Amino acid sequence: MSPGGPGLGEEEDAMSEQPDRRTFLLGAAALGAGSLHAMQSREIRTAFIGVGNRGKELLRQVLNQANAPVAAICDTNPTARDEAQGLASRYSPRSVTEWRRVVDMKDVDAVMIATPCNLHAEIAAACLDAGKYVYCEKPLGITAEEVDRVVKAARRSKAFLQIGQQMRYYPWLQGAIPHIHNGLIGKPLIIKAQRHSTATPEQEKGHLPEWYFDPKISGDRIVENGVHNLDVCNWIAGSLPVSVYGFGKTYLPKPKPPGEEYMDAYSVMYMYENEVNLTYSEAKLHPRALKELANGQWYVVFGEKGAVTIKRGSALFYEMSSESEPRELLTAEQQNAKEDAMGDFFASIREKKEPFAGLRVAATAALTTIMGRKAIYERRMVTWKELGVSI
Ligand SMILES: NC(=O)c1ccc[n+]([C@@H]2O[C@H](COP(=O)([O-])OP(=O)(O)OC[C@H]3O[C@@H](n4cnc5c(N)ncnc54)[C@H](O)[C@@H]3O)[C@@H](O)[C@H]2O)c1
Repeated sequence: MSPGGPGLGEEEDAMSEQPDRRTFLLGAAALGAGSLHAMQSREIRTAFIGVGNRGKELLRQVLNQANAPVAAICDTNPTARDEAQGLASRYSPRSVTEWRRVVDMKDVDAVMIATPCNLHAEIAAACLDAGKYVYCEKPLGITAEEVDRVVKAARRSKAFLQIGQQMRYYPWLQGAIPHIHNGLIGKPLIIKAQRHSTATPEQEKGHLPEWYFDPKISGDRIVENGVHNLDVCNWIAGSLPVSVYGFGKTYLPKPKPPGEEYMDAYSVMYMYENEVNLTYSEAKLHPRALKELANGQWYVVFGEKGAVTIKRGSALFYEMSSESEPRELLTAEQQNAKEDAMGDFFASIREKKEPFAGLRVAATAALTTIMGRKAIYERRMVTWKELGVSI
């Protein structure tokens, strides 16, 4: 099977992520009854700011957690607020329109933020300054200044921030990536990664809220969406990107220059500190029947001793110069289990530990995409140093 051959990729939309009850239950079963009780015994009172599509999904995930009552729902849209209040009716949460009121609520320990992207940093920094734990949807910020603001707030806060990059919790990625870090392919040299969709830009317009198409609100596709996959590439590379070059724009239905619309396709090339080289593309223009280059999301990592292909539920190792069939690296459990990002958030508060997708992951991922966007908009190579953020 060739790296781009049939079956490598798989179309997937992060918006459709479902709550992860099964993994929670698996984890619960693995713990003894006593320690499970201790883990869940501390009540953590929650509030939600932004309860549109994703915010309601986060609310469902929190409603599945033990001892995590919902104290308040905040949204500027009354319909969204009412729907969320209905979901959380067993806790009779307060309903507010102004997010600063949530920051001032003394009976709220943790805040879930799922507003449009341009508001994340300001709200997250205010919550951290008020000593509240934050689960913030990605991206952490859409400019380097915004990311810097949250990094500084998190450093002075007694609480922590977890970012909504749930891919960090995918068991198939957690199973595959350590093989690369442990030397299976020798030194990793090149990463090729992709997120292609067979949905047309017109179809996408029909199901995404309008603000996504304004880069000043969403940060554009690379920052709003590519942040998931580029973060996985950072994780695989095990290093920080040093420089990036790229190209992209809105091609259809009417071409628009970068910065004026949500790009429907772009390609970027990063060089990392450890000299790993990454080529990544994201596009809405993948014909359904084009199977030679699989659509969907996948990663191929080439190293000195072979290559690993990674997609949902599979990680295949191809030994260099061998004609034999590739070897599956994942266990059945890693192939099939679902992630539990929200479980880690509550466990980290109770166990006083840093979550796996904590501040460094959040800041690095956002900055990686911000430098990529700058390279595309300005048609030049952009360096990490230019961003001027110390993480
Ligand atoms: N992790 C994931 O897989 C994933 C998936 C989808 C979306 N997201 C992210 O979640 C966030 C929300 O996306 P969405 O698709 O739910 O958008 P949405 O438009 O459906 O929801 C956003 C909500 O925020 C509310 N809002 C706007 N301004 C506000 C303010 N000042 N105060 C309070 N509420 C305000 C809106 O009324 C709306 O209900 C985005 O950052 C997006 O990138 C993450």
